[in-house]
Amino acid sequence: MSWTKVASLSEVPVGAMKQVTIDDLDIAIYHTDQGFYATSDVCTHASAFLTDGKLVGCIVECPKHGGKFNVTNGEPTAFPCVIPVETFPIEMRNDEIWVEA
Ligand code: FES
Repeated sequence: MSWTKVASLSEVPVGAMKQVTIDDLDIAIYHTDQGFYATSDVCTHASAFLTDGKLVGCIVECPKHGGKFNVTNGEPTAFPCVIPVETFPIEMRNDEIWVEA
């Protein structure tokens, strides 16, 4: 595990999400009104990208079947998702967003 700069603050305004790739891992970063979070971008139900879905507050809705996850802890909140998505440490350094993966 190591820290990687993945984006600048201006690329991910509040309410937005962005897919980044670190060592072949597809990771979603989210800018919620509670701060930044990062999870695997791959839905645990059937492998859609969560960043192609919708972010409402701290809940991301998968575009494929409408399952949902809490981005703060990766826990599923709506069927058919029952397996959590992996979460990753994320932090701001000046105007840069860094993820540990
Ligand atoms: Fe995400 Fe089915 S692939 S809910």
